[in-house]
Amino acid sequence: MKGPIWLGPKRAAALAERFGTPFYAYSARTLRTRARALKRAFPDAAIRYAMKANACPALLAEVRRAGLGVDTVSPWEVRLAREVGFRRKEIIYSGNMPSDDDLRAVHREGVMINLDALSSLRRFGRIAPGAKVSLRVNLDVGGGHHPHVITAGPESKFGLAPEELPEARAIAAEHGLRIVGLHQHIGSGIFDVGLFLEALDPLLALLVDFPDLEFVDAGGGFGVPYRPDEKAIDLEAWGAAITERFRVAARRYGRPLKLMLEPGRYVVCEAGLLVARVTTVKRTRDRVFIGTDSGMHHLIRPALYQAWHPVVTLPARERSAERCFVTGPICESGDLLAEERAMPVPDEGDLVVVGNAGAYGFSMASHYNLRARPAEVMIDGDDWRLVRPREDYRDVVRRRDVRRA
Ligand SMILES: Cc1ncc(COP(=O)(O)O)c(C=O)c1O
Repeated sequence: MKGPIWLGPKRAAALAERFGTPFYAYSARTLRTRARALKRAFPDAAIRYAMKANACPALLAEVRRAGLGVDTVSPWEVRLAREVGFRRKEIIYSGNMPSDDDLRAVHREGVMINLDALSSLRRFGRIAPGAKVSLRVNLDVGGGHHPHVITAGPESKFGLAPEELPEARAIAAEHGLRIVGLHQHIGSGIFDVGLFLEALDPLLALLVDFPDLEFVDAGGGFGVPYRPDEKAIDLEAWGAAITERFRVAARRYGRPLKLMLEPGRYVVCEAGLLVARVTTVKRTRDRVFIGTDSGMHHLIRPALYQAWHPVVTLPARERSAERCFVTGPICESGDLLAEERAMPVPDEGDLVVVGNAGAYGFSMASHYNLRARPAEVMIDGDDWRLVRPREDYRDVVRRRDVRRA
């Protein structure tokens, strides 16, 4: 991969010509490289790719071929994972606030269910007495790139607090549920392995209270650099530190125990680009707006998390940089792909390429303002293929009877 904008200008132009804009491009090679690196760094772990990061079926197929399983959070994620060919035992479900229908549907699929509220456990016990189950805990250590993605700590809606665990065990016993897994996920975009270990230690300390465990799942959240001044995590060092802690705990536990991890962003972030076209260059009294045919409806991270993504325009223009706001057609002032970015002002018709867009890009895209979601293209060396076409009016509207509506 040649940096975050790995698509050359010629190929970007050829794909834009062929498929129109906007489109997401994914590098199959980068996906495979990331999957291999994870497996190498964590030899004891079953890696469950968190498919919420990107559930493009072709991308999931690539992840499956690379030997990872999946972490899911909804019945349809489970269903798609099965359709793509993941085996039941390669799938874990870690939904939050599940309805009874969710619990029934996931149980019917026969995949491991990970629950994080006493109510969910009670309802699951009634639905599936005697089943195996895993518990998600919240041990007060959380972290992440933005408050919205911190998923542990006293203010978090996720996980069972330590003081709830005796009652969780009692509910499980009442319904004959076997607690075979302990799980936590502390947040997303973590760069400090120290924080990860700070959360892992109390999780491993809980093992003694659960005699039937088959696995312990330490979640995902591995950070990926977006800004030029951010440094990639040392995955090998993370692997060594986490594996060592796990091995000590597993030996102490004395029964066979598997480690599970659920990285999403780490697998797909750098593999994805969003390619759009400049529709409108607009100079106001204070600002230069670069209007494109994509925006917050396709990549909401800048609007939602004030996230910084690398952006280039193609072809390269030999002009001095100006302070630009890259935006889209959505009727919100927060519709931004880049804010106050020093860059040469492109011509209308040029391309805009947004890097590090493989994770939480398409998967968080919407139809806001009745706009279609982009096409998706998989690139593998010299090969490329359209893996999902851009939506059309009918995909977006799906109306039944307009007169009665
Ligand atoms: C339960 C669970 N596991 C894994 C992940 C993946 O996180 P990341 O993409 O940061 O690795 C998430 C993300 O929200 C999650 O909620």
